[in-house]
Amino acid sequence: MGTWTEELSIGNESIDTEHKNLIVMVNGIEAMIKARDSFALPQAFEQLEHYLCAHFVGEENIARAIKFPFAKNKQEHKYVLKEFQHMKTELVAKDGIWSDAAAEHYSNFLSNWITDHVINEDMLMKPALKDYPYDFKPG
Ligand SMILES: [Fe+2]
Repeated sequence: MGTWTEELSIGNESIDTEHKNLIVMVNGIEAMIKARDSFALPQAFEQLEHYLCAHFVGEENIARAIKFPFAKNKQEHKYVLKEFQHMKTELVAKDGIWSDAAAEHYSNFLSNWITDHVINEDMLMKPALKDYPYDFKPG
């Protein structure tokens, strides 16, 4: 996805900040995949996964606090963590030796995922978040 813009705001400061950071991390990983940087990739994947898990927990806590039905989002989170695991295992096993087509495939997967996560999943919470201050944090 490139960069975070105002249209990607879902109306909550901590979620928006985390999305900005996720986009930066995903861009970094895409660059590493294209550069076949098998030295930096495993750590970058660990960092992304760790950050993602915390992000998903944060989103779920906010959804619960504002009584937003979160089942669909939760399903997406479970699915993407599994896919990441799969991609990580595959790329680490290939140790930097993958084709341009594979690099393109994984890079597209990451871009598509982050776009889908923000625009098609988290954006569903925006109407409900309108009733709360931008810096709302569950108690
Ligand atoms: Fe999110």
